[in-house]
Amino acid sequence: MSKLARHALEDGADPVDDLILQLSMARGIDEVMDVVRNNARALVGADGITFVLREDDKCFYADEDAISPLWKGQRFPVETCISGWAMINRQVVIIEDIYADDRIPHAAYRPTFVKSLTMVPVRMDDPVAAIGAYWARRHVPTNEQLRRLKRIANSAAVALTNVSLLDALIASREEAVRAKDAIIFAMASLAEVRDNETGNHIYRTQHYVRALAEAARPLFPELLDDAMIELIFKSAPLHDIGKIGVPDKILLKPGKLDAEEYAIMQTHAELGRRAIEAAEKRLGASTFLAVAKEIAFTHHERWDGSGYPRGLSKIDIPLSGRLMAIADVYDALVSERVYKKAIPHMEAVALIRSEKGKHFDPVLVDLFEATAPIFDEIHRQFIDP
Ligand SMILES: [Fe+2]
Ligand SMILES: [Fe+2]
Repeated sequence: MSKLARHALEDGADPVDDLILQLSMARGIDEVMDVVRNNARALVGADGITFVLREDDKCFYADEDAISPLWKGQRFPVETCISGWAMINRQVVIIEDIYADDRIPHAAYRPTFVKSLTMVPVRMDDPVAAIGAYWARRHVPTNEQLRRLKRIANSAAVALTNVSLLDALIASREEAVRAKDAIIFAMASLAEVRDNETGNHIYRTQHYVRALAEAARPLFPELLDDAMIELIFKSAPLHDIGKIGVPDKILLKPGKLDAEEYAIMQTHAELGRRAIEAAEKRLGASTFLAVAKEIAFTHHERWDGSGYPRGLSKIDIPLSGRLMAIADVYDALVSERVYKKAIPHMEAVALIRSEKGKHFDPVLVDLFEATAPIFDEIHRQFIDP
């Protein structure tokens, strides 16, 4: 008596259970076939087992475990092989003497040991595969052998369905990530083209804000982990996306804005929030878009509450917005704009220091001063043409 059979007698377990458990954990079609190849022959008591996949009008003998080679790797037209017949007719086929049955392509069997076979479709209602059991002598499967073979086929069907669901899930997740990256890229380029006077502003601010966030990490260990810093870095280019909604005559005005124009310019924070919210509705909420929205909406708030759009103050302003405020202003100061000249790095640092506790978070200003040489370096690296 085999070990498995004895085990079954001892505790009443079905020896096929273990194979079914393994099948339920398979993560790919190859793993499903591995489990069947490694276990089915012994469990069924056959001389050979094949795993046949349906490929349109072909039957693909994908895998086998037999006392001598069968047809592994070969493809046969569905109409000419018995696995095809079983799948098309959704029936179990039992053939005691294969040479007496004209559904069998005898030429393909002559070089093999096979005298008898049983073929079971995988997924009875819409077969996607079949499992064959073969014997070197004339043999009709016992009820127990047939029961085991059917259980294996049914479990393989469930496993294959799970695998294809899993594959579809992974594919759609990858697709969503690709689509999101493409949309972010498109949005950021749009913002850049629209705000072209500032050249590399979006790239520079992205790098400044990451440098500052890295420096701030020890002070905010709960808020600024690797993932969050990466999110801030990736979403920073969208901070001025709302400028798409500000008219050219204001955006590109060579002089100072009057009160009314300035008020329109300020709407870019709210417009940015709405644009990203619209993207969230289309793409589904994500931490990336949530951070992007936060930065777009709060990068003009001021520590003392005198900023816009909501006049938030102190730590009511999200950390990402407080970080971005320094990066954004530093870049505006050291870059030439249509309405003003650039000022030297050291003057910009002094100006930001003078706004400590007024415009900017005092703690972040200290960190900015410590990291200022990196800001200077980034500015040189992404210099406007
Ligand atoms: Fe802005
Ligand atoms: Fe900006």
